[in-house]
Amino acid sequence: MTDPNVPSGGKDAGNAAGRVAERMEELFELVAHHARLYYEKDAPELSDADYDALVRELAALEKEHPELARPDSPTRRVGGAVLEGFGKVEHRRPMLSLDNVFDSGELASFLARMRGAVPDADAADWAFTCEMKIDGLAVSLLYEDGVFVRGATRGDGRVGEDVTGNLRTLRSLPLRLRGSVPGTLEVRGEVLMTRSRFEALNRRREERGEPLFANPRNAAAGTLRQLDPAVTAERGLDIFLYYVLEPQALGIVRQSDALSWLAERGLPVQPAWERCSGQAEVEGFIEKWREGRFGLDYVTDGVVVKLDDIGLWDGLGATSHAPRWAVAYKYPPEEALTRILSIDVSVGRTGALTPVANLEPVRLAGTAVQRAGLHNEDEIRRKDIRVGDTVRVRKAAEIIPEVVRVETSCRTGSETPFVMPKHCPACGAEAVRLPDEAVWRCPNRSSCPAQLKEGLRYFASRAGLDIRGLGERLAEQLVDTGRVRDLADIYDLTEADWAAMDRMGEKSARNLLAGLEASKKRPLSSLLAALGIRYVGTRVAELLAGHFGHMDRLKEASEEELAGIDGVGPIIASSVEAFFREPANRELLCRLRERGLNFVGEERGGAGSGALSGKSFVFTGELSSMKRSEAEARVRALGGTATAAVSSRTGCVVAGEGGGSKLRKARELGVSVIDEEAFLRMLREAE
Ligand code: IVH
Repeated sequence: MTDPNVPSGGKDAGNAAGRVAERMEELFELVAHHARLYYEKDAPELSDADYDALVRELAALEKEHPELARPDSPTRRVGGAVLEGFGKVEHRRPMLSLDNVFDSGELASFLARMRGAVPDADAADWAFTCEMKIDGLAVSLLYEDGVFVRGATRGDGRVGEDVTGNLRTLRSLPLRLRGSVPGTLEVRGEVLMTRSRFEALNRRREERGEPLFANPRNAAAGTLRQLDPAVTAERGLDIFLYYVLEPQALGIVRQSDALSWLAERGLPVQPAWERCSGQAEVEGFIEKWREGRFGLDYVTDGVVVKLDDIGLWDGLGATSHAPRWAVAYKYPPEEALTRILSIDVSVGRTGALTPVANLEPVRLAGTAVQRAGLHNEDEIRRKDIRVGDTVRVRKAAEIIPEVVRVETSCRTGSETPFVMPKHCPACGAEAVRLPDEAVWRCPNRSSCPAQLKEGLRYFASRAGLDIRGLGERLAEQLVDTGRVRDLADIYDLTEADWAAMDRMGEKSARNLLAGLEASKKRPLSSLLAALGIRYVGTRVAELLAGHFGHMDRLKEASEEELAGIDGVGPIIASSVEAFFREPANRELLCRLRERGLNFVGEERGGAGSGALSGKSFVFTGELSSMKRSEAEARVRALGGTATAAVSSRTGCVVAGEGGGSKLRKARELGVSVIDEEAFLRMLREAE
């Protein structure tokens, strides 16, 4: 297989723009694929650095070609790049970060350096505020005469993104301050998602087959940077403020007073702060919260220690990135010792066999941990993990525990090395490992019950044919009871069959049958996506359906022809070709056709000749440079179509000022959204 890190140029097909689009599509699918492995399966095949490199390459291309950026791009989930979709805000003063210390020795040196830099140190009142370090993302808020007027993310510290609309949706953020605060006030703090909301959000995402957020911080970042404030509102973020810009103008001379002042104005302040005199008290605070922090409903990763006397701050100044009057004491990641009782192997949708350790239950970061992902065979060998070993486990990204290392000194000699099974634990098929892959796979895609359960769930999910009511539990039952042996079998079940399943009544059985009927009429692209072919998500499925127009033509396509399509790279082409070559898959397709599923592709719309031919647009909100009717007319003149409602066939949604539900719909369907500027650029190029 081709190295995913190497740009897939070199094909003679297409011009430079086509190659960019193709590479972006390929990167999107690769990143989405590896994100699924990481977030859902806990079975990464790439190192973090390699994964980050893919995300960075995609982000850079998106910045250059915003019109090709997809709203559901993984780059919007994390990271600090300024999005095209938000206005930019230059901070009045840079938003600094903090220096970190990791133990009391480093803390002592930092405080000694601070003391050494204060001219009349002996006369100073060596008091500090100790505040919890919230693991969220920093924002700055502007109030004019007590009214919230603007909020921005930190961005690169100098320029952030204007997320006013999204911040307005935070219930805990006052839109008007208590009491009188004339003039301009800037305060800074941390936006976060509580653990409880985070867990609920991930549960919802799991049900919908969407990738899970790794931790509350990523979820908060992804939520704050949603283009549609309705999504931010629905997910529910919180905020704690900890910093007043230019406090002296308000008569505030201590950080402890600043925190009280913020709270009095109705701005939320994380309540667990204390004023401590001297290092011993500071260390007492740090110890008190070392374990105590796990009882809080939000993630904290340390304590911020700030010199209380604000009058000394200016004299101490700052380095290029952090003030000298404050420091972050970072708690080490929570680790615990426990024993590996056994190692199971789980089978994923794509047949990946993932070893998972069953542990003697141990408390870690506030929860009981019983299982830890072991990634793959190489990882187990590298760490020399054996059944019976005492191991050090750590919660890496807050929710996924991992084995850090084996405590070899605890070995008794009775530990047994783990041998990766040669056969799939679910169906017994002989496992295979491709030469350049780290994982073993069960090759029995058509009838392995574990793959079938996952495949069925995916087939029916919103990413596939969207068959409401057919979720994980039902998929499991159908396979376990032997009623379903391949995907097509679900179309043979009668109302009575459905009604006989656990927790199903006649009404839900009837609804399911209606859902199955509706699924037969879905576009070819949805069926293609539902088949769960590796690397074929919604977008590639649309490309394939659009290019071939019929399942039968696609089925016979050569790898070469596939790779010649704009947006389909060599990796995707080889995966698609291999899928359709497999006799069991061809048999499945025959059975799906017999049951009436739609094999015919979408119309390739438009007048056929213009530069926007085949592209359909939906406009939402107000454009500033022209009326909507004019924009639609110009699209049509270039061969494109303009429709009123967003559907999975919509090529692109143009978001003007104040767009609402259509944006949400576009996001849900994974339709790309561009702003007016990108639209105008596209028109200019097309014209
Ligand atoms: S003070 C110049 N206080 O930690 C003032 N920061 O690692 C700098 N953070 O960028 C910030 N809780 O996003 C401060 N109580 C707290 C904090 C806090 C969390 C974040 C903040 C900062 C990062 C530095």
